[in-house]
Amino acid sequence: MTRASAPGKIILFGEHAVVYGRPALAIPVTQVHADVHILDSVRPGIWIDASDVNLHAELNTLPSDHPIASVIHNFLFLSRVSPFPNLEINISSTIPVASGLGSGAAVTVALTRALSSHFNFPMTDENINAFAYEIEKLHHGTPSGIDNTVVTYAKPVYFIKGQPIETFIVGKPFTIVIGDTGIRAPTKESVGDVRKLWESDQPKWESIFDEVGNIARKAREAIESGKWEELGNLMNQNHKLLQEMTVSSPALDTLVSAAGEAGALGAKMSGGGRGGNMIALVPPDLAEMISRHLMEAGARNTIITQVS
Ligand code: MEV
Repeated sequence: MTRASAPGKIILFGEHAVVYGRPALAIPVTQVHADVHILDSVRPGIWIDASDVNLHAELNTLPSDHPIASVIHNFLFLSRVSPFPNLEINISSTIPVASGLGSGAAVTVALTRALSSHFNFPMTDENINAFAYEIEKLHHGTPSGIDNTVVTYAKPVYFIKGQPIETFIVGKPFTIVIGDTGIRAPTKESVGDVRKLWESDQPKWESIFDEVGNIARKAREAIESGKWEELGNLMNQNHKLLQEMTVSSPALDTLVSAAGEAGALGAKMSGGGRGGNMIALVPPDLAEMISRHLMEAGARNTIITQVS
């Protein structure tokens, strides 16, 4: 049997503008993960069991552009495995889908790693990341590549599309509460809507993306030098710009305001938006209380994570 797993991720700063070449900051979230087990089997075919998404099927009965099927087809093509083996592939994930926590990228990376080790077809992190990016492009239209990068390398990244991976230093550990609205919203749609806005008035949106990029640069400095007040203000500013991009939502805004009222240093939505998760930078001793406050304000779930 072969197993592999990959963590979730959360974007700290710069989502959406990152698609247009501005920098963004993201971290892995190891409290949630996708896990894949592969077993050789006597039953003919490649059987996939992903009960979280209610999938129990043989590979060839799935459309070839199905997110999981496309990983397996592309891997078998790349590795030239022949004849096709008989396999049982079990996929489970604690990362809620379409919630901004990178569930698609995590399943792709975990599955690719498991296949690579099962078939003795070594792939470096760089290979896995490039492979996962191609899969992301099949399903998300114009992804920046940030999700697959954070999930593959499982470390904090300062990400600029098309540039070599760069990590950042955390001067002093800080605590984040992640609040889930429970509303599932596909990233593809919000990314597509931002593109329509950009197409309708490129000078306006380029300058908004510049503002977001400047916030991400300042946030990196604040993280490196441990200036939490400033980091919180930058989160609030980034959230306003995401509202202007129309990717926030009433549920996200409610949780962002609730976090501020409960004593967070700053808060913003995270990821594609319209639903999914928000994040709040919190004094460590208030984390539990702010998390409870978010639940009372309607969060479906919260995760407290320390970034160090
Ligand atoms: C999604 O996690 C982040 C977005 O910026 C899309 C992307 O970068 O591909 C919304």
